[in-house]
Amino acid sequence: MSKRISLTAHAHSIILQYLTEGDFAIDATVGNGHDTLFLARQVGIKGKVFGFDIQQQAIEATQTKLETEENAENTRLFFHSHNRMDQCIPIEYQGHIKVIMFNLGYLPGSDKSIITQTDSTLAALKHSLNLLAKSGIITIAAYPGHTGGMAETNAVDQWLKQLPPQHSVQSLYSSDKESAPRLYIVKKNKLASPSPKIPFSEIPKSNL
Ligand SMILES: C[S@@+](CC[C@H](N)C(=O)[O-])C[C@H]1O[C@@H](n2cnc3c(N)ncnc32)[C@H](O)[C@@H]1O
Repeated sequence: MSKRISLTAHAHSIILQYLTEGDFAIDATVGNGHDTLFLARQVGIKGKVFGFDIQQQAIEATQTKLETEENAENTRLFFHSHNRMDQCIPIEYQGHIKVIMFNLGYLPGSDKSIITQTDSTLAALKHSLNLLAKSGIITIAAYPGHTGGMAETNAVDQWLKQLPPQHSVQSLYSSDKESAPRLYIVKKNKLASPSPKIPFSEIPKSNL
């Protein structure tokens, strides 16, 4: 029987192939800090992680998690919407970010009505392309199943389809259901390939 792997665990396993010590990364949706912590550990003390969230509770939870980390000072959290990342990320890091993670939707265990919104998500994705290093990747975990999630996911899907051909987009679906969570991986500066609908288990790592 094949083991079910979560969308974020899958995103982490892909990111591990790109992100090394001393690299720079952005967590565009900090939430409870699991992804921020993962990125901070991966880049180490010589690297840098920037995190964004619009909820004070998320920033505080993540700050608390970071306090027990030996590399905590490599992380800077912004209590701002990710659509301001172009203004918040210091100029010397712009164009040098290796990984940008989006984990869309609502903060687990909190108010489900506070969700990522299509307009700001698309604006942040556009900024992300400019902030990425040449060999960088963006991961987007999208959840069409919650209220508002389908419209946002469809908008992200459409936006990805019109990216210039030097970007490649891989779409991974957790099941055939329209409402199933999905993970997009956007690679900068690769020749475009069609975006097939492939279950996680069938994606060879060399294709990611
Ligand atoms: C699914 S959670 C993220 C989970 C998180 N990455 C983790 O590891 O726990 C989505 C988060 O996006 C945040 N969010 C919503 N709109 C946002 C925006 N415009 N800018 C930044 N964060 C936003 C929510 O407050 C919520 O904390």
